[in-house]
Amino acid sequence: AFSLLFSPDVPRDHSAVWASRKSDIISTVEFNHTGELLATGDKGGRVVIFQREQESKNQVHRRGEYNVYSTFQSHEPEFDYLKSLEIEEKINKIRWLPQQNAAYFLLSTNDKTVKLWKVSERDKRPEGYNLKDEEGRLRDPATITTLRVPVLRPMDLMVEATPRRVFANAHTYHINSISVNSDYETYMSADDLRINLWNFEITNQSFNIVDIKPANMEELTEVITAAEFHPHHCNTFVYSSSKGTIRLCDMRASALCDRHTKFFEEPEDPSNRSFFSEIISSISDVKFSHSGRYIMTRDYLTVKVWDLNMENRPIETYQVHDYLRSKLCSLYENDCIFDKFECVWNGSDSVIMTGSYNNFFRMFDRNTKRDVTLEASRENSKPRAILKPRKVCVGGKRRKDEISVDSLDFSKKILHTAWHPSENIIAVAATNNLYIFQDKVN
Ligand SMILES: *[C@@H]1O[C@H](CO)[C@@H](O)[C@H](O)[C@H]1NC(C)=O
Ligand SMILES: *[C@@H]1O[C@H](CO)[C@@H](O)[C@H](O)[C@H]1NC(C)=O
Ligand SMILES: *[C@@H]1O[C@H](CO)[C@@H](O)[C@H](O)[C@H]1NC(C)=O
Ligand SMILES: *[C@@H]1O[C@H](CO)[C@@H](O)[C@H](O)[C@H]1NC(C)=O
Repeated sequence: AFSLLFSPDVPRDHSAVWASRKSDIISTVEFNHTGELLATGDKGGRVVIFQREQESKNQVHRRGEYNVYSTFQSHEPEFDYLKSLEIEEKINKIRWLPQQNAAYFLLSTNDKTVKLWKVSERDKRPEGYNLKDEEGRLRDPATITTLRVPVLRPMDLMVEATPRRVFANAHTYHINSISVNSDYETYMSADDLRINLWNFEITNQSFNIVDIKPANMEELTEVITAAEFHPHHCNTFVYSSSKGTIRLCDMRASALCDRHTKFFEEPEDPSNRSFFSEIISSISDVKFSHSGRYIMTRDYLTVKVWDLNMENRPIETYQVHDYLRSKLCSLYENDCIFDKFECVWNGSDSVIMTGSYNNFFRMFDRNTKRDVTLEASRENSKPRAILKPRKVCVGGKRRKDEISVDSLDFSKKILHTAWHPSENIIAVAATNNLYIFQDKVN
């Protein structure tokens, strides 16, 4: 039973009515590796980092709210003069690096450029310089008669974000994924047709590890939709395609991984074939389980779990919103059929979460095979009130607590969610609102 832990008011630019601002729409959410920090990126190119409150001694049971820790502008709109194309500032993905010193590092990307950000704290400032005064102005050398020893004085905590590396000019198409390798020295960035491998220290060079661009673009039948490194084996990665297939590649086999090691595909059920079959089989997200044994994929109507040792079909298939099968025509007309839903595992790989419409999101328990639909909304979730499971009525008589398929709001969609790595805390992005829910065990 999940209840609302926190729905922070993200700092907004007050010059406009925020509810109508497209730039505030959250486009990615990501916990750091211990779950103490949560980063969101939005369409306006901003990154907001939330930090979990420290446990206070007298309020042991009140632990866990997340507060705004740092906000910064990661990407700005740009213009590509050669192609006469606008490059949006929207943050497509954020990935944390494991913490190695007092500072935090994260990667953020828009369609073209990946940036490595350093987020660090400062609570002291040096005072008593010899050659400049406290405001930083140079002192007249004639007035310097004694040598002073500068000291560090405490000041209010300041969190600074500084761009440490900018990885640009390597993608012709739109970047859909970035993934940090388990060697923590390299990462990859994937666009529609190519995947590049980068070293964190080198920004002027990357290695192209996958290239599916046909010599003649008219022969193009398939694009790359998502890619991720194996959590433990630094030579292995997967990428998914718009044809519903997944390829596992081994970088030890050859420098260019155009030839996969494994190929996962489920043969189509001929009785379900329709005009929309190809569109709805396109994979919008692929994620390795924490154990590294399974991969999960999300397509328009389902979530599938694949065993790395079985390529010809998934071991589990979960229906996210099968009631939309009869609505595909209108979902095609309003472009919703192209929505890219993501999916996440819980910390022990036993539960799967993914989004749907009407601000609904779904959870599937892989062991008990139980599933639940929950709703992210301010009206229905007072702080600490338990979220009530929602039901969509499919044909027949609608019960009092059910909602009919025809009254679902398709403009309210949950595309991005994140699960705390070790606790039952989830973050759900609903357009321009962020909800953090917690499962209360006691
Ligand atoms: C996650 O962030 C917290 C800061 O609140 C930090 O203490 C922790 O080391 C970070 N975890 C990792 C693995 O980077
Ligand atoms: C990248 O920059 C480094 C240092 O400036 C230089 O030594 C190297 O030759 C450059 N590589 C390429 C491919 O331009
Ligand atoms: C075919 O459609 C039915 C529902 O109409 C669904 O339950 C089944 O999983 C579909 N088969 C495949 C292979 O997608
Ligand atoms: C995963 O979900 C199950 C079921 O809610 C829960 O028992 C388990 O503690 C979760 N694991 C983590 C690490 O959150």
